[in-house]
Amino acid sequence: MNIIKVKDYQEMSNRASMHLAEKIQKLDKPVIGLATGSTPEGMYQNLIEKNNKGELSFKDVTTFNLDEYVGLEKEDPNSYYFYMMDKFFNHIDVPKANVHLPNGAADDLEKECRDYEKLISDAGYVDVQVLGIGGNGHIAFNEPGTPFSSRTHVIDLDESTREANARFFNSMEEVPKQAITMGIETIMESKEIILLISGEKKADALARLIENEETSEDFPASVLRKHENVTIIADEAAMAKVN
Ligand code: F6R
Repeated sequence: MNIIKVKDYQEMSNRASMHLAEKIQKLDKPVIGLATGSTPEGMYQNLIEKNNKGELSFKDVTTFNLDEYVGLEKEDPNSYYFYMMDKFFNHIDVPKANVHLPNGAADDLEKECRDYEKLISDAGYVDVQVLGIGGNGHIAFNEPGTPFSSRTHVIDLDESTREANARFFNSMEEVPKQAITMGIETIMESKEIILLISGEKKADALARLIENEETSEDFPASVLRKHENVTIIADEAAMAKVN
């Protein structure tokens, strides 16, 4: 794993957006994997600026998001579909037909998972996947204990994950209990992975990822040690517990 240490959130966002922009310019038909949450918001803002200034086009880009809450319609302001439209896709020139998120409101969730896998393989798999990390080591919504061999599936969210994400909802009761998430094996098939980590709340998880030798399903992010092209971009606060 290649580790880039940066000063703060802003610098992490700059580095991530520069890296993605270079990749998008280099590839003919880039397939980009995207995350939601607080971590990538700054990166999205930077990419929007580059697009609006005419420095970068998303016309040939296809995107796949990692996950979506079960039971939320697209129009729900807490759905990840809404987040992606609001914070990124509505502000860039990506054809809307090229953007993909699992549909958490689908009648048949198992079929939705299978269809999502097929869309990813039909697109030739993800060229660069952007990831964040949960305090418990989850990647996408693959919670501790998820098999490394998992494909896109429905997952019961950990209470710690629901609590961490409750800040976006009016009350804890409103936080969905399940999500559709890309599986760990699906993520590992990405040709390249960029893991963004910012802030002291992630310091324990980052120290565990970098310093422990353990590769275990109890700490999902540890699987990334087995991938040959992972770059971690972490700020000083996140690096605080790394010796
Ligand atoms: C989001 C996702 C999650 C988040 C993680 C960190 O699509 O897959 O794994 O990356 O929960 O969330 P933030 O960035 O809000 O700390």
